[in-house]
Amino acid sequence: MNIDHDVDLSPYTTFGFQQRAAHFVEVSSEQALLEAVQYAQGQSWPILAIGGGSNLVFTQDFPGLVIKQRDKRIHYTNAADGSGTDVTSSAGVQWHELVMDTVGRNLIGLENLSLIPGQVGAAPVQNIGAYGVELCDRFASLRALHVPSGTWRTMLHDECEFSYRNSLFKQYEDDYIIGQVTLRLGGTLELHTEYSALADYLAAHYPDKTPDVRMVSDAVCSIRNSKLPDPAELPNAGSFFHNPVVPTEQYDALLQRFPDIVGHRQADGQYKLAAGWLIDKLGYKGLRQNGVGVHDRQALVLIKYHQTESTALIQLARQIRDHVFKEFHVSLNIEPRIL
Ligand code: EPU
Repeated sequence: MNIDHDVDLSPYTTFGFQQRAAHFVEVSSEQALLEAVQYAQGQSWPILAIGGGSNLVFTQDFPGLVIKQRDKRIHYTNAADGSGTDVTSSAGVQWHELVMDTVGRNLIGLENLSLIPGQVGAAPVQNIGAYGVELCDRFASLRALHVPSGTWRTMLHDECEFSYRNSLFKQYEDDYIIGQVTLRLGGTLELHTEYSALADYLAAHYPDKTPDVRMVSDAVCSIRNSKLPDPAELPNAGSFFHNPVVPTEQYDALLQRFPDIVGHRQADGQYKLAAGWLIDKLGYKGLRQNGVGVHDRQALVLIKYHQTESTALIQLARQIRDHVFKEFHVSLNIEPRIL
């Protein structure tokens, strides 16, 4: 085991704030991950497993061991019950590489989730989702190290408590480290092209064709590229806030005041509001202050324009949250993990 000390964490998150880790190790197997965890426990170091760092904001140095998984294996098997193809990926694979691998095999299932940054091991934590599909819709099982007991567990769908941008692993962030994820693809799955931005794109670009896996993936990549900034050019963590869910009465009252508000009815009758719309309505789109700002094409994305302290980002997020609450009486929850 090769542990480094006093390591700059800026290359390991997409925001790239310059905090440091007291200790840092890269691991490439289940055994190595377990050894690293047990070593840290023996030293009484706090432990933090990171993926691609695309949903992580460091606001202070990390006093313990940061663990990054490097294992990059993908393999395919036929599902035992004949209902499709299971793809199993180790945590260290880039999510988009996994998506491209499955698209290259013409397997239906992950095309709507193209171009989401981060590593496979992080995908179940916040149940990543885009264009009408969430990870949990394709999920079969995962293997996770249960940190307190030092045991590897195989966990099925129902044990993971998935919901919108949430899971068991988000609720108990430090108790589990996901090492491998299995997704069920192909079989009877159908393409999901009903999300309006996607449907419009496909109609405009392929008017006479029936969409296939590749076309949908290409469409999602184009839409994302047109709206969402590339973290390599403009450091960001994707959506900075969840889309808030409000009761019907509150939605109706807001609709009276703001007839163009964007909200989608949920199965339980509540409404999920587009937080981007709320922030946009308050005039934040394109704002820049203290080296950070709000993306000029998607108000839900906060950006670091210059090297600065993360306090500037947190202050902007608070300012937006307070303003949204004052104007709409809606509480915004921050999506990335703030440490
Ligand atoms: N809108 C505005 N102004 C804005 C942004 C959005 O008015 O600045 C309105 C528009 O009417 C738009 C609607 O809000 O139609 C919804 O916007 P969009 O389709 O861009 O989706 P979103 O709700 O803002 C969510 C996810 C994204 C995901 C997209 C596409 C969350 C927190 N975000 O954003 O996920 O890519 O849907 O499915 O659920 C991420 O989590 O990092 C992320 C990018």
